[in-house]
Amino acid sequence: MSLPVHTPAPGSTAFADGPPAATLLDFVHRAAADAALIASLPLDPDGRTWLRLAGPGGSEAWLIGWPPGSGTGWHDHGGSHGAFATAAGRLTEQSLAAQLPTEGWKVLELADGVDRERELSGGRGRAFGPHHVHQVFNPSPRRHAVSVHAYHPPLPMMRRYSRTGQVLRLEQVEWPKEWA
Ligand SMILES: [Fe+2]
Repeated sequence: MSLPVHTPAPGSTAFADGPPAATLLDFVHRAAADAALIASLPLDPDGRTWLRLAGPGGSEAWLIGWPPGSGTGWHDHGGSHGAFATAAGRLTEQSLAAQLPTEGWKVLELADGVDRERELSGGRGRAFGPHHVHQVFNPSPRRHAVSVHAYHPPLPMMRRYSRTGQVLRLEQVEWPKEWA
């Protein structure tokens, strides 16, 4: 598997003082392999559950439980880069292989061919750059999934989108106080 590792643009300071993608990916893989940690997460058949973890280098990290059929909807990470890995069950990630402008638009028509999909199970993970837009869901009709996520810098905000065909629409901006 090739892992997309973000390279900061010239002049960017986004990663100057933070852990690189490889460090976040290593962290989520290690945490996903920690059976006692994974077992400590309460699971709820009616909704996602989460525990905040101490991420490396000041990053924000979460252990998340996904009941069958649950998902995030389309979102970005407010300019943070990150990594996640599945510790139990299976997750599907749908993402866009396109760098979207982050500001100044409400509705965007996506070009054909930008959609990507990958299955993450059995400890498999991925890293992503600061412009990553995706949705993640548990496709299983029966089995919970558990995953580990890390972001740096800690999420300053998240943008949530709806999607109809190739049209992506900004619906909501969420701030840290809403998920603290
Ligand atoms: Fe995400």
